[in-house]
Order: sequence, then structure tokens, then C-alpha cells
Amino acid sequence: MMLVLLAAFALTGFSAPQFNPPPVLKWQEVAPGVWRTRVGKREKLTLLSAAEAEPNRGALALMPKVDAPPVDLGQSSGEMVETYAMARMPLQPKEKLFGMGLQMHGSDRREGIYHLQMDHYSKGVDRLHAPTPLYISSRGYAVFFNTARPCSIYAGVGNRLGDPNNPPARDRTTDPKWEAQPYSPSVEASVQAPGLEVYLFAGPTPIDAIRRYTLYCGGGALPPRWALGFWHRVPLAATAEDVLKEVAEFDKRGFPLDVLGLEPGWQSQAYPGSFVWSEKRFPNPAGFVAELAGRGVHVNLWENPYIAKTSPMFKPLESSFGSHTVWLGAAADLNVPKAAKIVREHHKQVGVDLGVSGYKIDEVDGVDFWLWPDHARFPSGLPGIEMRQVYGVLWQRELQRLFHDSGKRTFGLVRGSNGGATRFPFAIYSDTYNHQEYLTGITSAGLAGVMWCAEVRSAKNGEEWVRRMQTAVLSHIAQLNAWADGTKPWSFAGFEEPVRKAMEFRISLMPYLYTAFAEYHYEGTPVIRAMSLVDGGEETDQYLLGDDLLVAPMFAGVASRKVRLPKGNWCDYDTGEMVGNGQTIEIKPALDKIPVYVREGALIPTIAPQPRAGRNTKNTALIVRHYGNGPAEGRMYDDDGETFNQEKGSYAWYSLFSRDGTSGLLTTANKWTVGYDKIIWRHVGPSR
Ligand code: GAL
Repeated sequence: MMLVLLAAFALTGFSAPQFNPPPVLKWQEVAPGVWRTRVGKREKLTLLSAAEAEPNRGALALMPKVDAPPVDLGQSSGEMVETYAMARMPLQPKEKLFGMGLQMHGSDRREGIYHLQMDHYSKGVDRLHAPTPLYISSRGYAVFFNTARPCSIYAGVGNRLGDPNNPPARDRTTDPKWEAQPYSPSVEASVQAPGLEVYLFAGPTPIDAIRRYTLYCGGGALPPRWALGFWHRVPLAATAEDVLKEVAEFDKRGFPLDVLGLEPGWQSQAYPGSFVWSEKRFPNPAGFVAELAGRGVHVNLWENPYIAKTSPMFKPLESSFGSHTVWLGAAADLNVPKAAKIVREHHKQVGVDLGVSGYKIDEVDGVDFWLWPDHARFPSGLPGIEMRQVYGVLWQRELQRLFHDSGKRTFGLVRGSNGGATRFPFAIYSDTYNHQEYLTGITSAGLAGVMWCAEVRSAKNGEEWVRRMQTAVLSHIAQLNAWADGTKPWSFAGFEEPVRKAMEFRISLMPYLYTAFAEYHYEGTPVIRAMSLVDGGEETDQYLLGDDLLVAPMFAGVASRKVRLPKGNWCDYDTGEMVGNGQTIEIKPALDKIPVYVREGALIPTIAPQPRAGRNTKNTALIVRHYGNGPAEGRMYDDDGETFNQEKGSYAWYSLFSRDGTSGLLTTANKWTVGYDKIIWRHVGPSR
């Protein structure tokens, strides 16, 4: 019999090809539900080390217990191939993948190739403001490639020779089931590096996997309360006088304002920057910042971190500059501790000690022309190619360290971030200005472990202005960036009221938003949750804000849109009327209406709109909005809103409840008591 079979093979020339996968990877559980492996050698700098990420082990221990790895690790493999470090993870036929950095299109990342590289996004899908090499599976786990190199991820594409999990090959001419892209049983990632570290985060659900990733990076950022108000940036060359007039105009017209952003003109020289105040435009910086502080407005300063010869930082930093300039400014290597200290001390003296509340770190993205080439040298030994991936992370790290040392919380903006940086209080923004893409940015930020600011700048008409503003107020930072053309919230005659209404809506949500940020900080749950994290949905134009609000912004030029309601009863935010459960509805919202829906049975903590959201909560009533006619519950976080005393236990979580005609608020904390004057319980909607 044996002989006959051998003879048959010899005749046909056919034998099953041998499957020679790379060696199986050895994994180690490094925290509850977190496994790590490595191919090749440990790299000098990784994303986690650049961010100095320290796992929040206490919070990780409270996550759902996981008995076994969520994927068959016996099917993982990896090896060095010439100058590449490669790792391979199994992928099941029906599995969906999400993430792959801060992508601005679509949601489904299966069957794609992603060359994740830091860049100004305008150049396309692989060049991202946050190229986090992280993917999340619909099967409830996440994989993170901890590398500061551009990482290529081949997700469900390509088949290895002889892999028993490959589908059968088909004849294109005769078989209708032939596919241009056959099912591939793996995700393969590679970097040009001596090694690659890989982390696997268990769920059990996709959102739990992201939570575990965030907590492993040290948790999410906790902004100060004032940062959740409205931000306005003034034109490039504005003077102190212009700014004070503008703030007065906000107050006179009754538009809320918490943060005032200065653009390059606050410096005596920019592109490259002097990092000192312009004596001409801001003759008395301390007086200026104090004057605004007195009016309850916080100052945020623009900078791109490229240092001019005229800067007092230039000389002291000279030995730690990279080989190449950016706009002819020198780029300091913040991995050199002495250099990082000089940068911090300068920012303290020129900014933080004056009362400056934070920074906008501009143009730390860009492969094309402004950042240095791959082969640039930096004194810590990092080549340009790696430094580009993490430069924004290093600046966030040092500025956050400065604010932390000063005992004041900050919130700011950055144009490039990456994996590991979840705890840094900076939101990403972009110059691309496509409304649809901005909305995708909001929804997908949480899939890349970052935050997003969908700022408004300009519009073709009043309708677009309003619709953009409605999106901006429901992103991580609500900002009007008038650096180029001086637009104001009231610039479009006849459209002031819907704009004011949107801004006031943002302010009213402050206690709810602050709670969502606290959930991010302490529990790792993204503030804004893509539908893929909620229930596996693929929509990029709607999302959950916190636990209980479903947001579906409108675009200009359309009269209606579809909203898919997740399972459960959903109520209209304003009227409380039930709109559906689990189905897709078609809505035609009036211009002043932001489509926001609330889970039935939710209690939403809010305040009345006020000119400054961030003023302390004394003399303010907490208004708890009750949706549905049955029992309801909610959650609220509170602390002093600006210091780091919460790290010493000075904070409180409250359970809100309303049942059987009784409403109340319970807490177990004793170091902090809610500051609100009184609580108003408000049932929203028709009684049934
Ligand atoms: C851009 C940035 C803008 C503005 C401008 C100032 O690159 O995205 O928001 O700050 O620089 O020059």
C-alpha cells in the first residue's frame, strides 16, 4: 500500500508543501491579563520607555480576572529576517480588527497593510498624527507592538506556504468562490530593528482590552476642570491689548470662555522660536496672564519645539542638539536628562511661574520636509527615524513633568503622539480641516490611546459654522482656532444663537464630562468610545461620550442622517422622548439641535451654562437629569479640579440613584466632599 502511494506521488509530482513557521514565541504574563514576548534583542528606546509608562497595577488588579490568554499563543511566532524583526499572531476567519493608529477613514482594519509612521496626516492612510501600533480584535483582546520605529502591520493579508489554516486554492476561471484576497490566518508585523517587543492585552471585551492597555501605560490623563470649558485661540500677531479686548467681547456677548490660546506671535521670534515673550506685543507678560487669571481665563501658549539662536535656551542646550534643524531651529534631544531639565526650567520661568496653564506643541509630525531625515543623529544615540516617531511624546512627557512638579494640572494640544502616551494630558489636532475626517478622528482616537480636538476655524457659510461647532463641543477639547483669520463664535451674522447654544451645551455637561475623564484616568476607559468598542459596529460618524450619551453630529448641506441605536432604550437628550431600541433611525434635526441620545435609566450630572465652566463648583447647583420613568442610576467623580491632591486620596466617586420617589447621592470617600451648593433632580421627558 505504502509503495503504491509513493508511486502515485512520483507520478503526479504532488506532495503537500511543508509548513515551516518561524519559531513559536515565548510569552510571559507581566500583569493580570497582560502578556509580553520579544523577538531579537531589547531595543534601547521603545514607545513605553519613551513615555516612561508605569503600569497602574492596582487598577489592573481590579479588572475582570482572566484565566488563560485570549488567543492560542502556540500559534504565535517570530524571528529575525536580515535586518527585520517579525512577529506573527493568529487570526480567525470571522474576527474583525480595529485601531492601527489614529486613522481618519473607516473602521474595519482587517485585510489591510499599515506602515505606521508619524506624519502630518494629509499624505494618506499610513502617515498619522498618532501611528500607535495597536490593534483591537472583536474577539476581545488587543495587540501592541512596543517599538519606536515605523511598524508595518500586515493584517489578514498574505498566506505562508503550507499553512494548514490557509483556505483551499481555487481556480479563477471556473470557481465562483475564487477570491482576490483569500482569507489569511494571521497578522504579521515587522520593524527594521534588532528586536521587537509585543504585548497582548486580554478583554474579555474589546473595551476591556483597551482599558488594560491604557492602565498598563499608567492610566488616562486627568485634565483640570477648567480645561473642559471652551477654548479660543487668537490670531498669529495678536497683542496683549487685542486679547484683553477679545475676552471682554466674549463676556459682553455672553459666550463662554475658559482658555485663551496665544499663537506664534507671543514669542519675540517663531519658526524657529525664541521661547520668550515679545516685548512689543506683550510688554508685561506676568501682568497679562494675571489679568486674564483674574477674569477666570487660562492662557495656553503655542510653540513648536525648534529653538532659535536668539533663545536663552540655545546656548545651554547646544551639546544636546540633533544633527539637523527644523525651520533652521535646533531640535533638543530630551532623552538627555540635562537637556530635559533645561527645557523644563525655562518653561517654568517663562510660563508656569507666571500662571500659564499649558502648551500647544505644534509640528512634531511631518516626514516630508520639516522634520529631519531618517539618518539624522541625536546625542542619546537615537537615529532620526525613531526620534520622529516619539518627538511629540518626549515633549509631552517633559511638560507634564513640569506641571506635575509645580502641583498644577495642565491640558494642552499636540500634533503628534504615539503609543504609551495615554497619561499625558494633550489632545491631537490637525490642519486638514475635513469635517467628516475630524469626526472619524474623534471616534478613532480611543482606538489609538490618544485624544482628539476637532477644532473649528472657518466655514463656507453659517450652517457649516454651526455644524462644525456642534462637533467641536463634543470632542476632547472644544476649541475655536482663529490663528489664521480671526474668526469669532459670532462671526456669522444670524447664526450666533445656535453657536452659543452648542458652546453652552458643552459647559452644561461639565460634571458628566469630568466623570468620563476620571473613568479614563482611573479605569482606562476612553472618554469617547467608537461603536466598534461599544458593540462591534463600524460607524465612524457616531459614538458614545462617556457611558450614557450617544452622539451623532450633523454635517452642513444635508437635511437628515441615520443613527444606529445600540441595544437598550434611548431617549432624546432635550425632550426625554423615547426614540428607539437597537434600530437605525432617520433624523432631521433643526440647525440648533445636536443629535444626542441618552440611555433610559441614566442620571446625567450637569450644571447650568455659565461663562466659566472651570470656576470652582461652589455657588453652583448640580442638576441631575433623569431619563425614563423607572429607577435610574449614574455615577459622578469629583475632586478639587486643579491640583494633584487626588493622588493622595482627595477625591470622591458618587453613586447617583433615583428610585421609588427617592433620589440621592452616595459616596464611600471621606477625604473629599462634593463642592456643589445644592442638587436639583430633574426628570426629563413625558411621564408615562
Ligand atoms: C499650524 C498649526 C495651526 C497654527 C499655525 C501657526 O501648523 O496647525 O494651528 O498654530 O501652525 O503657525
